[in-house]
Amino acid sequence: MNLKEIIKNISEAHDADRESLRAIIENSSEDNFLFEEADRIRRENYGIDVYLRGLIEISNYCKNDCLYCGIRKSNLSVKRYRLEKDEILECCKTGYKLNFRTFVLQGGEDLKYTDDEICEIVSEIKKLYPQCAVTLSLGEKSFDTYKKYYEAGADRYLLRHETADEEHYKKLHPKTMSFQNRMQCLRNLKKIGFQTGAGFMVGSPFQKTENLISDLMFLKEFQPEMVGIGPFIPQKDTPFGNEKQGNLRDTLVMVALTRILLPNALIPSTTALGTIDPKGRELGLKAGANVVMPNLSPARFRKLYALYDNKICTGEEAAECRICLQKRVESAGYNIVTDRGDWKNRSEK
Ligand code: SAM
Ligand code: FES
Repeated sequence: MNLKEIIKNISEAHDADRESLRAIIENSSEDNFLFEEADRIRRENYGIDVYLRGLIEISNYCKNDCLYCGIRKSNLSVKRYRLEKDEILECCKTGYKLNFRTFVLQGGEDLKYTDDEICEIVSEIKKLYPQCAVTLSLGEKSFDTYKKYYEAGADRYLLRHETADEEHYKKLHPKTMSFQNRMQCLRNLKKIGFQTGAGFMVGSPFQKTENLISDLMFLKEFQPEMVGIGPFIPQKDTPFGNEKQGNLRDTLVMVALTRILLPNALIPSTTALGTIDPKGRELGLKAGANVVMPNLSPARFRKLYALYDNKICTGEEAAECRICLQKRVESAGYNIVTDRGDWKNRSEK
């Protein structure tokens, strides 16, 4: 079978074996066809709609020490900040006026926020903006904590699995962190009822083609509603500061394969993709992504949430970011829609 036929087969089945995935990842000669197939599948399921999520980076304090991450606790060069409830609500107010209907609260694992505080923030947002969805991305928590967040009104939770291979996971994280726990967290989130997001970095140190294949196989099995995929980008004050960054082509191929395997998934075209290439986010959309996440964090804190070097969109105000992304989406041939953009099983339409 030639490569084009392999791509056709997996597009029809929305399923693939390891050999087919390896052939596609290791040979770029049919990349354009792969992206076209991914785009065709996204259009069948979502038309040209692109969903907006307003990202609020609530804290850069973190108890963890992931080797790749710029806000890891051992990075003493970071000036730390934490948003108060009122500041978060202010971001939502700005976002609501700009037509955002999903707010994503993301942060390091900051132990200063109690469960009650997070729940209070979530329920206040839901009370003020009942037609909006709240997504949390606050790392690994206990089943009970996740349940409290859910009962307070949070709709979705993003927790990238980072890598589906335990040995690879150990090379990216300190001994205190556990692959099994991260996977258990993902299962717990699903069980509780969250629309759940998994995902991984492309080109992270020590990553082999086999790891990427395992990531895709894991996604197929776990069936997350959302999948975040971005290139690894070094941050100079981390142990991986001198490692190579992930490349555009491989990241786009992973986005496209994810769309093909999970036709209904909500897949953001990430800021990291826009950081490694000026047209990265537009290309991500054309390879199957259907979500953008403009930054709603107060401009004065943006630069401090530096997960990696040269991060884009750290100088703009929310409104500028929103307009810039709208133009980018339109220039790629898609259309921003302003509803909540929940996951739907399109085959049951
Ligand atoms: N603490 C939460 C968690 O662990 O899920 C959310 C914040 S965490 C900083 C968000 C994501 O940023 C991680 O899941 C990781 O994939 C990504 N990230 C961290 N460092 C990165 C880097 N150097 N390059 C690209 N992505 C990175
Ligand atoms: Fe933020 Fe372009 S998306 S400035």
